Amino acid sequence: MKFDSFAVVGLAMAAVVSAAVRPDQTVLSNYDQDLYLVELGPGETRWIPEDEKWALRRAGINFMDITDTPELGALRALDVRRDATVQFPKKPAYNDSLVPLLKELKQKNMHKNLEKFTSFHTRYYKSTYGAESSAWLYSKVNQTIYDSGAAEYGVRVETFEHSWGQNSIIATIPGKSDKTVVVGAHQDSINLFLPSILSAPGADDDGSGTVTILEALRVLLESESIIKGNAPNTVEFHWYSAEEGGLLGSQAIFSAYEKEGRDVKAMLQQDMTGYTHKTFEAGEPESVGVITDFVNPNLTEFIKKIITQYCSIPYVLTKCGYACSDHASASKAGYPSAFVIESDFKYSDNKIHTSQDRMEFLDFDHMLQHARMTLALASPKLRTFTGSAYSQRTLGFETPEIMERVQNLNPFVKREQHDKRAIIIFRFLTLFTWLLVFALSILFSVKAPANGKTIWDQNKAHPTPFSLNPESTSFYWLLLLLLQFGYLYCLFTFDAELVKVAANVGSHFIAHNLLTSAFILLWVHSHLWIGELVLVINSFNLTSLYFRHLRTQPFIHIPVVTGPLAWNFVAVLSNGAAMVGAHSLAARILANVAIWSILFYGFFFMGAFKDYPIGFELAILSASLAVHQHGIRVFALQWIFALVIAILLLTAALAISIPPIFGKELIWRRLDDDESDYEDHERDALLGDE
Ligand SMILES: *[C@@H]1O[C@H](CO)[C@@H](O)[C@H](O)[C@H]1NC(C)=O
Ligand SMILES: *[C@@H]1O[C@H](CO)[C@@H](O)[C@H](O)[C@H]1NC(C)=O
Ligand SMILES: *[C@@H]1O[C@H](CO)[C@@H](O)[C@H](O)[C@H]1NC(C)=O
Repeated sequence: MKFDSFAVVGLAMAAVVSAAVRPDQTVLSNYDQDLYLVELGPGETRWIPEDEKWALRRAGINFMDITDTPELGALRALDVRRDATVQFPKKPAYNDSLVPLLKELKQKNMHKNLEKFTSFHTRYYKSTYGAESSAWLYSKVNQTIYDSGAAEYGVRVETFEHSWGQNSIIATIPGKSDKTVVVGAHQDSINLFLPSILSAPGADDDGSGTVTILEALRVLLESESIIKGNAPNTVEFHWYSAEEGGLLGSQAIFSAYEKEGRDVKAMLQQDMTGYTHKTFEAGEPESVGVITDFVNPNLTEFIKKIITQYCSIPYVLTKCGYACSDHASASKAGYPSAFVIESDFKYSDNKIHTSQDRMEFLDFDHMLQHARMTLALASPKLRTFTGSAYSQRTLGFETPEIMERVQNLNPFVKREQHDKRAIIIFRFLTLFTWLLVFALSILFSVKAPANGKTIWDQNKAHPTPFSLNPESTSFYWLLLLLLQFGYLYCLFTFDAELVKVAANVGSHFIAHNLLTSAFILLWVHSHLWIGELVLVINSFNLTSLYFRHLRTQPFIHIPVVTGPLAWNFVAVLSNGAAMVGAHSLAARILANVAIWSILFYGFFFMGAFKDYPIGFELAILSASLAVHQHGIRVFALQWIFALVIAILLLTAALAISIPPIFGKELIWRRLDDDESDYEDHERDALLGDE
């Protein structure tokens, strides 16, 4: 392979460097021997010296070093119960409480941990550096457990010691049973040219997997229910030593598990989770690579579903050969295992095993996707695998609790994923109800219904302190309907992420359209009291929409959230005044006071969330009020107040929106400082984001 030319350079350098071997680079291990027994495929073994091990790896040939673990899998193979298969859920049930946890995953932490982890000269398993990096990782995991408060509930971390000096690390979150789900990565790195001398930052291989699962662990421990042991299964996080030496650490662990009769129901390995450069270069979509050879097909099938449900990028199926990472040890021990890598295998990182496997080549956005998958696999609902490794019997699915059923049916629930049917229903209802509002508002603006008045004749028939100007209000509505066209585009596009965000507000928007249609019909037929009730109901609908989706994109936020909300607020006042026929002196005075609520309403949203669109919208409506009140001049002061309010709202909205346009601080975008570079780039963002 192409590494051969490197090998020559490496050897030349060896001559130079060997004179200057650092004294603390002494080999720790008493594992050294003349020959090692390696397995290159099922049953295909041979004895080779160590340098031949590295030659094999340089040539891209994987193997297991089975010198110490020739019996791995033999016990369970003899066990009659071995025939049993683990049943995985047909579909990962959507777990609503997982969503807030997913949002807690932070690139910043992965970045910080990887910075430290790659700062060791090498993490070669037989070096003092490897022992030091392992000690650091151990204390980091320990600290994570203590910081979360999980230690007092029995969540723990232990070292698994090996003869070569670098320990493996195992963190355990006990659940209701001993049935265990293992999430793994390997902590050692290697420079294949001169492992004991040259540096091996191992950022991608497998520093990336190490910090990915560490971040997933940190967030998992934020769930009180999980740390208190309410999860149906035990979850373990493994950081293996000596993967590069032929899966030594993981074989030792699974060999021990096999002897102890441990019941591991699933093992997921992630080795390299951060490199996307070659994928993009090839013009391929960013995706997660799901390995399909030498893995458990049923677990792999389940992992694919988890990716579809919980990651915002797709997966691509790929292969990596026999024993290409630690999942092979679990497999050999008879435990179902799967392997997920950063991309299609052919686009994976080719700088690994050299001094160039550095952090700056990695994509932390991508690592976040792996962390999401890890969290989803390790979180309780998904661990209720039916059946058992030791039982042929297929148990039924656990009956979902009533609450969960309700959640599944509730159309207003925010989801990370909508099934295809739901999307079709959303599209149909949204288009239909939007057309309904459009048709009714145009129709009744120009034509009176059989026994009613047109919208604006009705307005004229009820001159109140809150009557609006027909032209400017019509303009507002036309603009709003036009902008809503942009929202429809989001819902109908092929961009799955946009569709998801749009569908999440879909139910509220459909409700808004239906309520608004009802209001128009009631208004033109002079059913003002019921109309007011409908407006108030819509206020609840829109307010709840606002607060549940604070961070939608502007082209959804403006036409679907603030535009209707601002109008609905003014309509409640306007229709309310018409309904009571506010003509007495008391009513006029009340109107002079009540009109200021428009100002407070706008100031509230601008003050609390920097939401200037709603400021502009209320300013337009208030100006419309001023124009009309000035025209009729029935109510003293009202037009002046309305004008002042419009001006104040406009000024405030401008004050909030202009500086970011000219300064670097764009309100629709995250601040561009160092910190936020590693923030979670969830594509929803923005309003009110501090
Ligand atoms: C996968 O699941 C099917 C159906 O449940 C089962 O028959 C099969 O044995 C399983 N395969 C493995 C390798 O576990
Ligand atoms: C783990 O962390 C706790 C709290 O910081 C500390 O008291 C304890 O000594 C640590 N354990 C080990 C083995 O480092
Ligand atoms: C969903 O996950 C949370 C923790 O993330 C857990 O407490 C809850 O029981 C799960 N819900 C179901 C229905 O499994």
